[in-house]
Amino acid sequence: MYRTHDCGSLRLDDINQNVTLSGWVQKSRNKGFIVWVDLRDRYGITQLVFDEKRSPNNVFEIAQSIGREFVIQVKGLVIERESTNSAISTGAIEVLVNELNILNESITPPFTLEDNTDGGEELRMQYRYLDLRRNSVKEKLIFRSKISMEVRNYLTSAGFIDVETPFLIKSTPEGARDFVVPSRMNSGEFYALPQSPQTFKQLLMIGGLDKYFQIVKCFRDEDLRADRQPEFTQIDCEMAFVEQEDILNQFEGLTRHLIKEITGIEIERFPKISYEEAMKKYGNDKPDIRFDMLFGELNDLAKGKGFSIFDCEELVAGIAVPDAAAYTRKEIDGLIDWVKRPQIGAKGLVWVKCNNDGTYKSSVDRFFNETQIASWAERTGAKSGDLILIISGETKTARKQLSALRMELAERLNLRDPKVFAPLWITDFPLLEWDEETQCYNAMHHPFTAPKPEQIDLLKTDPINVKANAYDLVLNGNEIGGGSIRIHNQKLQSEIFALLGFSKKEAKEQFGFLMNAFEYGAPPHGGIAFGLDRLVAILGGEETIRDFIAFPKNNSGRDVMIDAPSTLSETQLEELSLKKLPNIK
Ligand code: AMO
Repeated sequence: MYRTHDCGSLRLDDINQNVTLSGWVQKSRNKGFIVWVDLRDRYGITQLVFDEKRSPNNVFEIAQSIGREFVIQVKGLVIERESTNSAISTGAIEVLVNELNILNESITPPFTLEDNTDGGEELRMQYRYLDLRRNSVKEKLIFRSKISMEVRNYLTSAGFIDVETPFLIKSTPEGARDFVVPSRMNSGEFYALPQSPQTFKQLLMIGGLDKYFQIVKCFRDEDLRADRQPEFTQIDCEMAFVEQEDILNQFEGLTRHLIKEITGIEIERFPKISYEEAMKKYGNDKPDIRFDMLFGELNDLAKGKGFSIFDCEELVAGIAVPDAAAYTRKEIDGLIDWVKRPQIGAKGLVWVKCNNDGTYKSSVDRFFNETQIASWAERTGAKSGDLILIISGETKTARKQLSALRMELAERLNLRDPKVFAPLWITDFPLLEWDEETQCYNAMHHPFTAPKPEQIDLLKTDPINVKANAYDLVLNGNEIGGGSIRIHNQKLQSEIFALLGFSKKEAKEQFGFLMNAFEYGAPPHGGIAFGLDRLVAILGGEETIRDFIAFPKNNSGRDVMIDAPSTLSETQLEELSLKKLPNIK
């Protein structure tokens, strides 16, 4: 038997017991006549004592030679420590060792396996199996596992069935590029890895399964960011005979349950705002509502007064930065430089200080009087002591820039408290968006999303203004989930494919299976998918999902540990008929 206890479990009650422990050597301190070793496993750390007088001779000698990360087994007696270490759960005891087995040796790890390691990201990823031994990394995976189990329990109790859907499929459009897999048996043909199980979960509804869920890998070949990985995990769900409200209620329930179970925080009903309102008030369809600084649109108050920078632009909008009226000229110039950086691209900022004595001082005093400026303060919700910052420009661009400024200021003012959870639903997304580059409509969510039933006629006359029964769940400024009510009627689905620029032939080739299925009594249905990695990271108080994935890819989509992607051998290329393709040598 390798162990009678784990390294996190011995307490004062266990004094005088003979125990066997196995684990890794975290560190050892050699005083010449006594050696202390911190023995670590998943559950904690136990201090071992090898004593020249009290341990057998050979044991004491071997103890002097064991290095960091050696795997050892020890037998010994639990004794009370002279001075308790309150930093660890086993800090009241130590084990006086009388038998030592070296189970495996270790060369010196390339970085220290402590919470505050000296290893850089790339090095840690290359030796991820060592990185996983660090408490902070291990805890994140345990945290993730706990959330997955909660999700499974909750959905199973609510009557959802866990069904696996295939990975070797045909392209499912979710707006990214596909990862493809060549088929050996079907020369020159390729599978696509699912960007999501979207079409399959709809087919499960047509198959009568009624309530489906799956915690499932999805694959998207897109540019990577802190909240995006090329393979990531969804909590994918679908329900039959539901309307939008049914889905929002069901999954608000799940989210509320998770937040309660994981953080202990109880949240009332989630606010719900339309896409249009989100864009107007936050310039963003995933607003962080942990803080205010809502946009005030100032067109009617600020245009037409002879200030050409406002007059010639489509939108003038501002935010009130709390308690920032005391900013120095230098600090304000710093903000102006910040918005002028190419990543933001604004031409500048107009500012107004709302002084504590009720007066105003602004960068546009020459063009506007106190009463006019006071009306801006009212519109942006500025109080005495606040600083109003105003951006003007083309509506979409100005909103994006002001939204970036709002988030930057929130960061600088520490308004993004990771221990506060502020979820909200965004609803009534437009069904379509116009792509200037391709001069085509794109589906804003995906092509299977149903338009609002009362707006179906508008599809023929004014498609861009048709709203969808689509919704996103946003948590602390991150989109953690999205879904929609689906089209379940073949005629309407064909109409949407035509609007999206698919010819009848292309639609049939790509989605004939779904269109056919719609002809055999498809029930009304809808669903949602959560990004599990994002949900876990945010509940864990962070925004970088990589840390919550056991073996993540780097920003170039590489796994630096196994060195993937990699080239194939000539034989493999030949078997897969890839040698015949152009561009492959
Ligand atoms: P959507 O494309 O919105 O919807 O994806 C659902 C959720 O998945 C997460 N997500 C990602 N997480 C990490 N890395 C990525 N590259 C990544 N891409 C998306 C987000 C997102 O909200 N089939 C639809 C769902 C439906 O309609 O039911 C879908 O996949 O948190």
